[in-house]
Amino acid sequence: MQYQVTIALRYRALPALEAALEPLADALLSEAIAEDHPLENRPDDQWQLCAIAPDQSTAHRLADEARRALAVQGLPDDSVVVEPVPALDWIAHVERDAPPIALGRFLIHAAHHDIDPRGRVALRIEAGLAFGSGRHATTQSCLRLIERARRRGHVVERALDVGAGSGILAIAIARLWRGPVIAADIEKLSVIASRAAAKINQVGALVQAVESQGLAARAVAQGGPYDLICANILAGPLVALAPKLRHALAPRGLLVLSGILVRQEASVLAAYRAQRLSLKGRLVDGDWTTVALARGPRRLGWP
Ligand SMILES: C[S@@+](CC[C@H](N)C(=O)[O-])C[C@H]1O[C@@H](n2cnc3c(N)ncnc32)[C@H](O)[C@@H]1O
Repeated sequence: MQYQVTIALRYRALPALEAALEPLADALLSEAIAEDHPLENRPDDQWQLCAIAPDQSTAHRLADEARRALAVQGLPDDSVVVEPVPALDWIAHVERDAPPIALGRFLIHAAHHDIDPRGRVALRIEAGLAFGSGRHATTQSCLRLIERARRRGHVVERALDVGAGSGILAIAIARLWRGPVIAADIEKLSVIASRAAAKINQVGALVQAVESQGLAARAVAQGGPYDLICANILAGPLVALAPKLRHALAPRGLLVLSGILVRQEASVLAAYRAQRLSLKGRLVDGDWTTVALARGPRRLGWP
């Protein structure tokens, strides 16, 4: 018999609770219960953190630690529940639930997967708090367009990933072109995640993770012009960022935008057409659309 300590909490309290419980727990599992928006982690989103303990006394120590960490943040501690659960091999559980993903040339996997990349570009991305496990349609469409650009001989000497999350797109770009990529994100947690993931994927020297709202950080603003920019954020910020993204794009650069619901595509494209960028490619997956844009009518070797 194992024990599980379950804590209902707001997203903003999650990092502190995880840090407090990690040394004692066999495993920590966190999941969103109610989100304002499925593509963004907002501070008030409701999450649940489960800490798995090997025995009852560890479970009670975990519960005490959790209450202490909640109290430090001035949060109520009445949401901490200890209960016995049937023993389960958590690693096997996670592995079964989340097998590696083969996506074009990419093979997205975690450390516990026993993979044989065989000519593929393996991207090791650990499940964590930063968005970008590779399982979302928007991430996958970006990866497909990135790979297509590589296959079509698009030249990339500098690249930018706006809204890098786990760093997955920046890492993919660095692995394909072996050049410098800036991975920018508004959230510090994502910057930490991108930096760590870049190292694990042997592109730590190529990927520079930067905290930035849009392109505001100096490293981002001064790092261009970029031959490839990916921005998988949301339609609203993408429209707002249109002039800045256009300015940062090299004359023959390619811009890949995602996080756009199909019904929002026309308004996003209108904002970019106003910047004299035209549509070069498009991928629709379910409700989501991903577009590739470039300056003027030139085809850039793009379909
Ligand atoms: C949908 S996730 C994309 C993650 C990853 N690039 C992928 O494709 O899986 C969006 C990320 O954009 C970040 N973000 C949202 N608005 C932003 C902005 N204005 N500037 C920079 N990052 C932003 C969020 O913090 C989040 O990590």
